[in-house]
Amino acid sequence: MDCVNVLLDGGKGGVESGLKNVSSHCSISEMDDYDLSKLLERPRLNIERQRSFDERSLSELSVGLARGLDHYESAYSPGRSALDTPASSARNSFEPHPMVADAWEALRRSLVHFRGQPVGTIAAYDHASEEVLNYDQVFVRDFVPSALAFLMNGEPDIVKNFLLKTLQLQGWEKRIDRFKLGEGAMPASFKVLHDPVRKTDTIVADFGESAIGRVAPIDSGFWWIILLRAYTKSTGDLSLAETPECQKGMRLILALCLSEGFDTFPTLLCADGCSMIDRRMGIYGYPIEIQSLFFMALRAALAMLKHDAEGKEFIERIVKRLHALSYHMRSYFWLDFQQLNDIYRYKTEEYSHTAVNKFNVIPDSIPDWVFDFMPTRGGYFIGNVSPARMDFRWFALGNCVAILSSLATPEQASAIMDLFEERWEELVGEMPLKICYPAIESHEWRIVTGCDPKNTRWSYHNGGSWPVLLWLLTAACIKTGRPQIARRAIDLAESRLLKDSWPEYYDGKLGRYIGKQARKYQTWSIAGYLVAKMMLEDPSHLGMISLEEDKQMKPVLKRSSSWTC
Ligand code: GLC
Repeated sequence: MDCVNVLLDGGKGGVESGLKNVSSHCSISEMDDYDLSKLLERPRLNIERQRSFDERSLSELSVGLARGLDHYESAYSPGRSALDTPASSARNSFEPHPMVADAWEALRRSLVHFRGQPVGTIAAYDHASEEVLNYDQVFVRDFVPSALAFLMNGEPDIVKNFLLKTLQLQGWEKRIDRFKLGEGAMPASFKVLHDPVRKTDTIVADFGESAIGRVAPIDSGFWWIILLRAYTKSTGDLSLAETPECQKGMRLILALCLSEGFDTFPTLLCADGCSMIDRRMGIYGYPIEIQSLFFMALRAALAMLKHDAEGKEFIERIVKRLHALSYHMRSYFWLDFQQLNDIYRYKTEEYSHTAVNKFNVIPDSIPDWVFDFMPTRGGYFIGNVSPARMDFRWFALGNCVAILSSLATPEQASAIMDLFEERWEELVGEMPLKICYPAIESHEWRIVTGCDPKNTRWSYHNGGSWPVLLWLLTAACIKTGRPQIARRAIDLAESRLLKDSWPEYYDGKLGRYIGKQARKYQTWSIAGYLVAKMMLEDPSHLGMISLEEDKQMKPVLKRSSSWTC
């Protein structure tokens, strides 16, 4: 596993040579310092990579880094032949899978233009579906895998356009009925309206006021920050992140989630349906998906905020919050065999700070399934922790992002991967990857979902299998040095996705059936596959979406006496 950890943030030497404009205040390059020392300390390099000289500068920075994988395909470089040929697949593998070309074609078909410029991709290009709903919009979260695919393919402009366009939308005054939303809120999605007569393009954005259930897209702002870092890492172009507009955009998002209130925990309190799971599914409270994204966005912002007067204040708040958040998550959300056994034996009604059972969880509330599900080897971050409530469900996105952001310690990260191996049938089955496990049914489904007919057991958000999650699984596999797990998952996806026309999700305990109401040509299923393929072919891509354990923060933290944990 060690050998691959060095891939994550790129090496300093590479970053320096890859950056067009190295500035003294951008800590992205500083963050990489210790990564390089790690690289030098751990020379477990097995395969020397064949690389081409025509690759983009960022790829060059990882020449020394991409050498750690035990198994991976060798590379060659015929260069780009046609305009639409995906550079990466043409360059990096001997025989690109036939699906790759189809996927690129479908991804390009989903492009959305605003005044002649590509600004995003629509959620689904499914003309057969009777109901369009809002699948013809550009969703912020859905665009992330598209953006990564374009970045990995050396096409950063669309990502820049998207970042700037959504930043403009953030600046709008946002109201729902008579209520004004926080200034930093980012939209869930936006739509470009083309007027063929007047030849004008206009944009309408949805901040939750049109979304089904009026749900708040808390994840949008976090993904925006994470994508800004990915763009910066990938292109070496620091100038975008350094613009006053981007700096302000970041500060506004941070102001929303770092404000002081009545909280007793460093986690972020959320309403149901606030993320990828955008319907009532019992994820209200402190859902793991948001906590992981919050942590990752805080770290990404820390690397990009300028140390000017306004930036400094946020930097200080971020550092404190990261410290408290990582402690809280690693201690209270983590579940493995030992921890489960401890909770099972918890005493209740303990008063004072010496309480072992801090949240007064009643052992009787532990669901039966978790005793069977928990292997001796492996563990995961549970879905939610709040007073007398532990949601023991396993959620894919939160756990993978915890690995990528290094919210998970290296031991926890490998335990999560162990769980994938030990519970392959339950979590992957015939189609990667279950959005959560297990499904809720019967009375519990009625109460928790409000009888939602779309979220019946083993369907959609309720234990359905989402191909988009393949890219997150692949990234987590590479980071933890287990690429063979990703390869196995990709093989499964390749046996079905194209044939089934890239569905949005699959149903059933094993994910064997195309989802009841799944859209076809769902863009993030397509882009997620491409990103997974490109990362496995060239693991150095991982650096744009992964953060190493932040050792630099520790000395700063030690100086404070106010933390008691
Ligand atoms: C569904 C998904 C959501 C996604 C949207 C567009 O609402 O739950 O995560 O962003 O479709 O694909």
